Amino acid sequence: MKSYIIDGGKKLEGESYVSGSKNASLPIIAACILSGGVTKLYNVPDIHDTKMMLEILKNLGCKIKRNSGKIIIDSKKIKKYEIPEHLMRQMRSSVIIAGALIGRLKKATFSYPGGCDIGARPIDLHIKAFKEMGVNVEEEAGKILCNVDEIKPTKIQLDFPSVGATENIMLASVFSKGETIIGNAAMEPEIVDLQNFLNRMGAKVTGAGTNEIKIEGVYKLKDVSYKIMPDRIEAGTLLCAAAITGGSIKLKNVIPEHISPVISKLQDAGCNIQVYEHLIYLVAPKKLKAVDIKTMPYPGFPTDMQSIITTTLCQAKGTSIIIENIFENRFKYTSELNRMGAKITIEGKTAIVKGGKKMVGTIVEASDLRGGAALILAGLSAKGRTKVKNVEYILRGYEHLENKLQSLGAKITLEEGE
Ligand code: EPZ
Repeated sequence: MKSYIIDGGKKLEGESYVSGSKNASLPIIAACILSGGVTKLYNVPDIHDTKMMLEILKNLGCKIKRNSGKIIIDSKKIKKYEIPEHLMRQMRSSVIIAGALIGRLKKATFSYPGGCDIGARPIDLHIKAFKEMGVNVEEEAGKILCNVDEIKPTKIQLDFPSVGATENIMLASVFSKGETIIGNAAMEPEIVDLQNFLNRMGAKVTGAGTNEIKIEGVYKLKDVSYKIMPDRIEAGTLLCAAAITGGSIKLKNVIPEHISPVISKLQDAGCNIQVYEHLIYLVAPKKLKAVDIKTMPYPGFPTDMQSIITTTLCQAKGTSIIIENIFENRFKYTSELNRMGAKITIEGKTAIVKGGKKMVGTIVEASDLRGGAALILAGLSAKGRTKVKNVEYILRGYEHLENKLQSLGAKITLEEGE
């Protein structure tokens, strides 16, 4: 496994840019299965998870050409409708391919994606929605077999605004003969990007970004090109990297309103932030102030930024209360922070952070993507050297992260092996 070696204590200062969004790329790559033609995608981040998604499409029969952020996907010949189990297990978000296969081929076979370090990650809402759409769902030897003659246009009321379930319903209903309505739909910007992509191909989807989405079935989709939106979580991560080190950053290729809850909390913590159309300037204060955080579905504070803002608040004067309302096990990284001298106590879904004391570098282990990113920020602000192990988790979701941090003055290098 690879590690990052970080010599902390340096203020991060300068310019950086945000790559394409991982969580917009994955459903849009899956949606290419619906096209039955050739799709060109731009600004796709070159990270493990997009590579995995493309691997699955290739396994199903698509022809893929990749040249850094530009990808050409030819889905004329989809020969298979089974998502390989070992790929499902490696990346649970591949469950959204099921919706695309059901939309295109009226059948899909896949396995339970399995939990990960942040929670059980069930897919009951996906399965319930497929059944309400008339899909026959059976389980056989750990596999889920779906088939349907015709998708039944209907209204699906989600018990929880699940991002993945919303995306799966959108993909499965694109070719239905009528209107499908999603109530209590997820409102994340990635859902809007998926709607924009589908409509560019000729689908008729409206309402993304609100809690009610309507999909009017169409007969065929056309070949298109599409540019993926910037990654709002990477944007928040880079802003917090400047904030935690007492530095400043000019962040380009960002959509500020996608991270307004993060901007507002960093301002409450004392950061001076100027926002322009695709640009954010942040200057950190000498000492950050404690703030309270509650993670919520969009447009609330994003759960994917919870570990990153919590780590930042370890440097703030005073006590911050962070409540994680989305995933049941998303505080694991705090035990690693406490080994660096942080003072975080966990009570159920609440983390109490007694901030202000500088952390001290040591050897820490990443166990999930955003928790791992948080450990990097801890290393950047700590005294001395930090070794963050298992960085493969982090490479899943951040493109060229160490290069971006180095260009801001960070002393961080990637070390192969144990
Ligand atoms: C997406 O995951 C993101 N992943 C996650 O980002 C993000 O944390 C999450 O949305 C919430 O914003 C991608 O887009 C690839 P959910 P998803 O379905 O779709 C429960 C990252 O770090 N739930 O909105 O899996 C679930 O257990 C990743 O980039 C059910 O109970 O999230 C969780 O508690 C991590 N049953 C909550 O809903 C279901 O059928 C939110 O899950 C589905 C979900």
